[in-house]
Amino acid sequence: MKSKEAFKETIINGYNFKGESLILGGAMLNGETLSDTFIKVPLKTLNRHGLIAGATGTGKTKTIQVLSEQLSLHGIPVLMMDIKGDFSGIAAPGEALPFITERHQKINLPYSTASFPVELLTLSAQNGVRLRATVSEFGPVLFSRILNLNDTQSGVISIIFKYCDDKQMPLLDLKDIKKVINYITEEGKAEITEHYGKISTSTTGTILRKIIELEQQGGDIFFGEKSFEISDLMRIDEEGKGYVNIIRLTDIQDKPKLFSTFMLSLLAEIYQQMPEQGDSGQPELVMFIDEAHLIFNEASKTLLDQIESIVKLIRSKGIGIYFITQNPMDVPSGILAQLGLKIQHALRAFTANDRKAIKSTAENYPISEFYKTDEVLTSLGIGEALVTVLNEKGIPTPLAATMMRAPMSRMNVLDGAEISEINAKSKLVKKYSEVIDRESAYEILNHKIQEAAQVEETKVIAAKTVAKPKAEPMSDTTKTVIKVLTSATFIRGAFGVLSKMFKK
Ligand SMILES: Nc1ncnc2c1ncn2[C@@H]1O[C@H](COP(=O)(O)OP(=O)(O)OP(=O)(O)O)[C@@H](O)[C@H]1O
Ligand SMILES: [Mg+2]
Repeated sequence: MKSKEAFKETIINGYNFKGESLILGGAMLNGETLSDTFIKVPLKTLNRHGLIAGATGTGKTKTIQVLSEQLSLHGIPVLMMDIKGDFSGIAAPGEALPFITERHQKINLPYSTASFPVELLTLSAQNGVRLRATVSEFGPVLFSRILNLNDTQSGVISIIFKYCDDKQMPLLDLKDIKKVINYITEEGKAEITEHYGKISTSTTGTILRKIIELEQQGGDIFFGEKSFEISDLMRIDEEGKGYVNIIRLTDIQDKPKLFSTFMLSLLAEIYQQMPEQGDSGQPELVMFIDEAHLIFNEASKTLLDQIESIVKLIRSKGIGIYFITQNPMDVPSGILAQLGLKIQHALRAFTANDRKAIKSTAENYPISEFYKTDEVLTSLGIGEALVTVLNEKGIPTPLAATMMRAPMSRMNVLDGAEISEINAKSKLVKKYSEVIDRESAYEILNHKIQEAAQVEETKVIAAKTVAKPKAEPMSDTTKTVIKVLTSATFIRGAFGVLSKMFKK
């Protein structure tokens, strides 16, 4: 093992950046924290994505808190998928407790407390900014995934989307798509068979059953308008701090499909809507995805390829994505290879599988002449991590065991009153609380069925009285319908468009 001086020199040179950077903590060697030996990450390479991993209770969430705070201070907004609901404390100042100030003394980094601007977003009816999406925006690929459909069933979903496009019928909520399925198996059966081919009623039956299941899981609350505008994630407060947008997912953690598919639709939409980024030298938005394994579990090869492509391409739009998981092997290798920043908290070696994971994790890190990586991995303390980042030239920095700095904000969660206060002040809560149910497939088809019945009736009367049936005047809502539809078709394209782009 080389000397402490050589180590210090390696770290100081390796982490010496020209542009602005965030300080993560101080370097450690043989369990000792060296002062004035900061481990930093350049703002410029934050769009090169990252991984934060480690066993339970080792400090992953606090690391995200530290990163989010530094980002916010630089005017970079953050989006946090908070599955466990333990992130809200970032809205309140922390406390200079002895264990925190001691930590900072070792690093020789001054400690101060601060709070950050927060929006609390929710996928359910929970108190907060309601996040909704229309069925049209989800598109056939993701909608089929959320329902767990097989290829045949997904094919029928694609036909339904196509039919609604052709007929200019927006699919806003689950009521709409259920209505369309009923229609194509009954009144509209002949029309569909003629133009799109025969659809088996057992397939539509299965799809309907799965939609009802989804409704029971709370999907009916999520699907509909007003759908969320991505630009609302990019806000900066009057002091120039980036907003920390926390999606609270506590009440859907038992619904991994809903969560993971929502995540993907959000990624696709951010990708689609964000312009290519000029050389601003810092990201536009940083996303943290907790429990990232949920996204990759059971994902088909096609979907994994699409995720990989989005992750690759979204970089040029100035979006950094950070996956958080206990075991780094949960992240598929194609994606793992694209992650520039790696913060690995302690791993525990209880089982043979654990030991395997430790071995492969160690192999994924730059070789260090100062550490036996696999040994360090199991001996790191809480709030310590092995870190490597990309320097401004895009080259991995020397591996550094790091004493992470402590959050400036509260490490504990907000209480109910504090949460209510944030929501009461939020402009977004008001903006998205309105429930809109404008004319969509459900109403259009009901109207059509009624009309058909009337025409039948009129025919009967006409036959008797030889009276002329009146032509139905154009509906007032037609314009709105077309507008909704065009924007929905545009937005939802992301996954469809991407899949075409990457079919090669
Ligand atoms: N950077 C830090 N500074 C000070 N204390 C820390 C730090 N990181 C972790 N801790 C301490 O360790 C505890 C656990 O950390 P944290 O909640 O971040 O773990 P975790 O890895 O997210 O766990 P889980 O997998 O259960 O979510 C914290 O409550 C805090 O007391
Ligand atoms: Mg955690």
